[in-house]
Amino acid sequence: MDSLINQLERGAKISRHVEISANCIEQVNAWLLEPGALWRKYKPRFFLENLMLLAKKAECHSNCNSEALFEVIGSFLSERCMEPYFCIYRPSKQCPCCVVVQENNREVRCGTTGLFSWPAADAFVKSIDTLDLCSYFCDKTILEVGCGVGLLGISFLILCQPEKYLFTDISTDVLEIADKNIKLNFSDSSLSCELHERRAKYEIFELNFCRPGVSYPEADVLVGSDLVYDPTMVTGLVMFICAFLKPTQVRSVYIACSVRSAKTFDTFISELKLNNVNLIIKNLENTNEELIKLVIISSRCFF
Ligand SMILES: C[S@@+](CC[C@H](N)C(=O)[O-])C[C@H]1O[C@@H](n2cnc3c(N)ncnc32)[C@H](O)[C@@H]1O
Repeated sequence: MDSLINQLERGAKISRHVEISANCIEQVNAWLLEPGALWRKYKPRFFLENLMLLAKKAECHSNCNSEALFEVIGSFLSERCMEPYFCIYRPSKQCPCCVVVQENNREVRCGTTGLFSWPAADAFVKSIDTLDLCSYFCDKTILEVGCGVGLLGISFLILCQPEKYLFTDISTDVLEIADKNIKLNFSDSSLSCELHERRAKYEIFELNFCRPGVSYPEADVLVGSDLVYDPTMVTGLVMFICAFLKPTQVRSVYIACSVRSAKTFDTFISELKLNNVNLIIKNLENTNEELIKLVIISSRCFF
């Protein structure tokens, strides 16, 4: 069997749910809570790093087989018991407003990683000014796939005044939190943002971009962050992007990617190139020393 470390290094998703004894979970919990153990230093955005440390530490012990470890970690992460907390983001240096997002530092049962905001979302938001995206997104209908808890969309609604913003994700658990977060950041349910005079509308619904033949809603721009991490999702994402671009040459796509596995990222780029689209790749600044790239995709002859 492929080791857990290899699987994680390839960017695999922890989605396996296994029943294991309560005793085992207790032991792992106790160990994680020991002074100096990983969870003490835990921050949601270091989630994968912590998981890798945990796996490496345990795999060093010759008596620990990685299959059992995989089960413990998978099961541990699929518990949904950590208390939610609120994070405050400052989306733009030029704008005094903050975005408040409820997050949770656990994966959910179905294995989604969407319960907290990932660095690519944060870096994408912070680059809106430097890339001069506000004027482009203004008045557009923006579709976001894999929106997670909503940091990207809420920030775009505040900063860019789109005509409409469509929050979508495969996980209804995640969408529930995103919906709460949207309401948390706007003074009324019709999204009358205090910063603008005009109202932007939003919709929130389930959408699986990997489902063959999935229909996509009408929109001018497609955005997403941290969606290129699981090699098995890459082809589905590329097909969705290309289908989105096809009907009109004025559509464009912005995908912010944390490059954890260069191989997975390269596969994403090569599959896009095979579909004969225009690509621009920019490095995004961030404070986590992670390599984060913004991939801008359009039909040929748009740029
Ligand atoms: C790493 S999280 C990123 C969340 C958010 N975009 C961010 O950057 O904070 C990946 C998100 O993609 C969603 N997702 C995974 N597979 C998906 C699919 N096939 N269709 C739609 N969303 C998916 C997950 O539920 C999760 O919310």
